Amino acid sequence: MAKKTFLSGIQPTNIPHIGNYFGAVKNWVASQNTGEMESFYFLADLHAITVRQDPKAFKNQTLNCFALFLAMGLEPEKSALFVQSHVLEHSELAWILGCYAMFGELSRMTQFKDKSGAHKEGEANIGLFSYPVLQAADILIYNADFVPVGKDQKQHLELARNIAQRFNSAHGETFKLPEYYATPNTAKIMSLSEPSKKMSKSDSNPNAAVYMLDSRDMVIKKFKRAVTDSEALVEYRGDDESKAGINSLMSIYSAATGKGFGEIQSEFAEKGYGDFKTAVGESVADILAPIQKKYNEIRSDGAFLESCMKQGAEKASAKARPLLHAVREKIGFLQL
Ligand code: TYM
Repeated sequence: MAKKTFLSGIQPTNIPHIGNYFGAVKNWVASQNTGEMESFYFLADLHAITVRQDPKAFKNQTLNCFALFLAMGLEPEKSALFVQSHVLEHSELAWILGCYAMFGELSRMTQFKDKSGAHKEGEANIGLFSYPVLQAADILIYNADFVPVGKDQKQHLELARNIAQRFNSAHGETFKLPEYYATPNTAKIMSLSEPSKKMSKSDSNPNAAVYMLDSRDMVIKKFKRAVTDSEALVEYRGDDESKAGINSLMSIYSAATGKGFGEIQSEFAEKGYGDFKTAVGESVADILAPIQKKYNEIRSDGAFLESCMKQGAEKASAKARPLLHAVREKIGFLQL
């Protein structure tokens, strides 16, 4: 039986945080390691320029994130690991799919509404608006079966399915309809300082997120400061908004230790939030330690990182090219 294809991406705009890790990358590593999937994971640098980047810092940041990919357990022999802008097929398909996407549906994207709100009326750039079309191209060009992402990306995935369906009904079966893939409890890790909001790389409050390269002390300090509630009861109540902070901390602790919610509740039944927060901080710091060690070993080896990137881009391009050729044929482009 043909292997199922897994595909996902992350923007190299900052060091990834534990929401990116528990919500997305951890699933990528797990599915890669089953050996039963064909996997494509990339740094979405084309997406990242919807916000101005300082060129020198951006290059450095992309290398940092690529080294972190490897340090978090992704392996170039098992998955295609690449940088989006190295695989030109993404951009070409994005233009084509833009002609199958509707102005209205893009205007309704939550992320666009949130991000364009930061600009004066009419001054958000077009890239911010057409961002989900590029994301659709990223996914559809590999005929991905599953897209492991956090909950915040679900709407973009639904749009990719709509665009694929529209293209298929105009030109006949071309693209597979990709499916959402997530681990329910970690699909949305909340901000430590405002638990009603998701943990975000672009949060201006440095205490809102725990980053993959934060020191042990820093991690523990951030969890100690995490906003919870006044009930002082370590209990998971998923649909209770007032428990968003504690629900998220329990999800993190559960993901870091493998313990279920019932077990965690008993462990902290007689204890307060202080003990619980320290335990969460220590469990996360334990997960980060080997990742940081590996990162420090490989980050300075530019030649090695570059050769892994090349290998990934070649694998990705080899998969993307035939599908793009078929799309061009269906549209009626002359092919040389
Ligand atoms: P990005 O860089 O914002 O996030 C990368 C991944 O992390 C997940 N994530 C979270 N999961 C749980 N809790 C959180 N607080 C949290 N914050 C982020 C995201 O859902 C995502 O899975 N547009 C994408 C990148 C992208 C992409 C794609 C993804 C570009 N093309 C094609 C999948 C398929 C983004 O900005 O992710």
